[in-house]
Amino acid sequence: MAMNKASRGRIRRALTPQLRRGWERAVFASPEEGGERREEVRAGPGPAPEGGAIDDATIAGLLEAAEAAAAEGLVKQTIVVDERRRLTYDARHGHLRVRTLDEAKALKVMGGKARSLRPDTSAGLLRAIGIMNADGTISAKHARKYKQISHLAELCRPTWERIVGQREVDAARPLRILDLACGNAYLSFILAESLRLAEVPLRLHGVDVRDDVIDRARARAAEIGMEGLSFERATIGEAAAAAPERLGGPPEIVVALHACDTATDEALALAIRGGAPAILCVPCCQHELAGQLAAGPASALPVPAIHAHGLLRGAYADVLTDSLRCELLAACGYQVDVVEFVGSEHTAKNLLIRAHRRWPTAAVEPGRWRLAEVRALTRGLGVDPCLLRLLEGAGAV
Ligand SMILES: C[S@@+](CC[C@H](N)C(=O)[O-])C[C@H]1O[C@@H](n2cnc3c(N)ncnc32)[C@H](O)[C@@H]1O
Repeated sequence: MAMNKASRGRIRRALTPQLRRGWERAVFASPEEGGERREEVRAGPGPAPEGGAIDDATIAGLLEAAEAAAAEGLVKQTIVVDERRRLTYDARHGHLRVRTLDEAKALKVMGGKARSLRPDTSAGLLRAIGIMNADGTISAKHARKYKQISHLAELCRPTWERIVGQREVDAARPLRILDLACGNAYLSFILAESLRLAEVPLRLHGVDVRDDVIDRARARAAEIGMEGLSFERATIGEAAAAAPERLGGPPEIVVALHACDTATDEALALAIRGGAPAILCVPCCQHELAGQLAAGPASALPVPAIHAHGLLRGAYADVLTDSLRCELLAACGYQVDVVEFVGSEHTAKNLLIRAHRRWPTAAVEPGRWRLAEVRALTRGLGVDPCLLRLLEGAGAV
């Protein structure tokens, strides 16, 4: 799609003085067709040096690239100057629009509510986790996700604020967070961004058994330019031994978001055994107790129908698993609360268990854990949960 001469001249004349101040990146995209959109992103030179300007050759290079992209059909073009300013035009018509993210527009993007993860100051994070497009826009689909992650950030805030209030956190003694079964590590990035905005120095280590997710998490951390983050391929069991060295001390917040099945129990056991002052845990799929209930007698269940119907048994087993996890945390000296972290229309696995150790600096004394009380409870319920076995020392973490 060749540009006509008039459009080309108009765009060049309008863009050139704007580009003197520098730009972060240029995004050349095709119009959307059947939900498909081709896109090319080119890094820019960044802001012009103080009192200086971007040179002619660099500007000419961008204009030529823009014309070549338009010839390939990438006519929807955006020059992102910085997180608050974009230049947009359609190369077919050549009318340049300068779009500024002022306070009123930022508030609209935030769904009418002031949020800590703002579209301007947290643009790097939002782009890296796929919420903001390269051209600085947030689509309607991602606007919902944006609100969810902002809400999650706020749910986690009391946990880190509590630790920051309990001890001096500075560059020499950063806050230490361990993310177990981190996967894409989105929660880690959200926490790290909240702490960056609050100027709280951080060391965060994420582990997962999958090489590909670890590679991606490392690449994302580099893309955002976040400091103090490391990711490693390891099992939760391996992390127990290695984490204090990676973090420069035992973890203060242990995070486990949707760690599969009993991996959640391994994460909780690691945190409890290590005396972690805080835990943020969103359990995932649970199969263990559902199987035990199916194999056990109907008389162990409060209502016979739970035994007879698989769906009811599964739902009961989910509640029982998480309830027993909460009992065990309390038995080991944690104060626990359970909140919904995202609406159930998005995921059924939407409980966030927040636990704080009542005496965070006290020595860990397994002999004082009230495990026998929970064991008596589980006997009556006809189950033998993984976390209890791990804490009793019958299983290896
Ligand atoms: C459902 S994903 C959740 C990932 C991430 N926390 C999130 O919420 O996006 C579960 C992750 O747990 C990891 N995983 C399961 N068992 C593990 C174990 N024992 N040690 C380390 N990672 C484990 C899997 O490789 C997978 O990436």
